[in-house]
Amino acid sequence: MALPANFLDELRARVPIRTVIGRTVKLTRSSRDWKGCCPFHGEKTPSFYVYDDHYHCFGCGAHGDVITFVMKSTGAGFMETVEELARQAGLEVPKPTPQAAEAEQRRAGLSEVLEAAARQYQLWLSGPEGRAALEYLRGRGLSDDTIRKFGLGWSGEGRGALAAALRGQNIKPDQLIEAGLMKQAERGPVDMFFARVMFPIRDKRGAMISFGGRIMGDGQPKYVNGPETAVFAKRRALYGLNFAREAVRKGARLIVVEGYMDVIALAQAGFGGAVAPLGTALTEEHLEELWKLSPEPVICFDGDAAGQRAALRTVELALAHLSPERSLRLLRLPPKDDPDSLIRRGGAAAFQAALAQAEPLSEALYGMLTAAHRPPNTPEGRAAFLHRLDELAGLIPDKTLAGEYRQHLRGRYYGERRQARPQTAFRPGQPGRLAPPPVKLPPRPAPDASAADLRRARLMLATLLRHPVLIHDVEEAFAHVPLPPGDEALRHALHGFAAQARHLDSENLLTHLESLGLAGQARALLAQAASEYRLAPDASPAEAAQSWWSWYSLMDFSIDMLRAQRDEAQAFWLAHPEDQAACARLMKYNELLAAARAGETGIPDS
Ligand code: UTP
Ligand code: MN
Repeated sequence: MALPANFLDELRARVPIRTVIGRTVKLTRSSRDWKGCCPFHGEKTPSFYVYDDHYHCFGCGAHGDVITFVMKSTGAGFMETVEELARQAGLEVPKPTPQAAEAEQRRAGLSEVLEAAARQYQLWLSGPEGRAALEYLRGRGLSDDTIRKFGLGWSGEGRGALAAALRGQNIKPDQLIEAGLMKQAERGPVDMFFARVMFPIRDKRGAMISFGGRIMGDGQPKYVNGPETAVFAKRRALYGLNFAREAVRKGARLIVVEGYMDVIALAQAGFGGAVAPLGTALTEEHLEELWKLSPEPVICFDGDAAGQRAALRTVELALAHLSPERSLRLLRLPPKDDPDSLIRRGGAAAFQAALAQAEPLSEALYGMLTAAHRPPNTPEGRAAFLHRLDELAGLIPDKTLAGEYRQHLRGRYYGERRQARPQTAFRPGQPGRLAPPPVKLPPRPAPDASAADLRRARLMLATLLRHPVLIHDVEEAFAHVPLPPGDEALRHALHGFAAQARHLDSENLLTHLESLGLAGQARALLAQAASEYRLAPDASPAEAAQSWWSWYSLMDFSIDMLRAQRDEAQAFWLAHPEDQAACARLMKYNELLAAARAGETGIPDS
């Protein structure tokens, strides 16, 4: 049939086989695949498996792609099926014109040209001209089996050697140009690759699409990748995908690494599920390919700053497509290592150990964020950081999942700030020359919050339950307030609510608390606050805010903390003398500090 193969690929990509089959067959997840009872022979226990691009029945041997499935189950013909699926996908079936047929033939031709080149490069690698290259590869720890499996080769020295070698197979320089193996120069076609170790690049079905070539030693550029052609799109291609696909189906982890050598070294060490983009950052198309194979591919990145930034970009991209079944894990390698060097140094065990440390996306995201944008410890810095957290969570299209992320990230942030809370620390002087060796002190238990502090803390919590509109103004400070453990769930719920809710009114808050099973606890606390602590039931939000801050200024830790905050506010104001808000904030802190020093009481102490 004269339909272009890339159209059929596009069609298969746009109508997921699992969805189509799922309309008539009840599918359930079985580890990484889906299975159900085969519709083509009667059976009661499922032996019909659906993979990312095909189905297979282990009972009757039925096997095919989405098109065959529809043909077989409806009895429709090929063109009819293609047209129906294209309609569902919103694609137009290209008219099988003679030009289209010719373009398709050329495409198929290109793969064959590249295949012939790969054979030639391999031949040269095993001949006398490839001696040094072979030694180079062996010197990098590759076995002859690995070199053969990945089809590594030697480009020759250029000057038209490839064209000359392929002339006998009726391959013309024009075809070599189209395949990205030569380029047009003033003096005629010249070789794209020369004096390089060659890495054939194949698509997921194993068809040749391009090459990468590495210089031996330290020259520049270290790697040359083939140009974009009719068969090679860097935004889609993943090096090693043809091998990784098989390995992942047999249970290997799908791992995304940076380079050719990483993929190969990993495969040789027994991690067959490794792939690499080709000199570009990971794209949406890459992620789609990866998720077809695994719900949680592992993204492996360098420990250095550039690696961190690249990982964060990938994560941002992934967030926009995240779902409960499409996530990532992040694996950060030791600084200065890539998977290849790590395996060379520590063997497969070293990588295995690293792999075990790969973090789920939600965990990794927070770490990456603080590493990339360490929040300056100013109100502005903290607010900007929280905005960034919310913005990232907001990228997730699934609202429930987005809410979970927001809550998780804020929870981490407040948890950390609680721990970082300044203590009235004992600061030893500089040890003199004759000072005795430092004595190891047993860790000091965290000072118990006084009973009065705990009472105030509960009152502050109750105030926020009654006036949720205050949460954003105080949540930062509130994170430092020591609560009885029984009340932590309510604080967490409040933060979660503040992160999610559009309107901070008590009714929404109540619904939120009810959904968490905390409404009863909240009511009990409010009742107690009203009777024991005489919380004014009809205070306005402004009055409530005033009381809140005065209680806050009485907390034991708060003088130190307020002083630090005041100093920061002062420094900021000195640097921005025109900033009215900075001036107001400084006055507010001075006021709180003075009140706290004077030991002014906001509530009765007994
Ligand atoms: P690296 O520079 O990290 O190289 O590039 P590597 O994979 O560790 O290679 P070895 O171990 O030194 O041989 C990672 C990837 O970035 C692309 C290639 O795809 C490479 O595999 N790259 C790198 C280029 O496209 N061009 C370059 O000049 C360098
Ligand atoms: Mn390397």
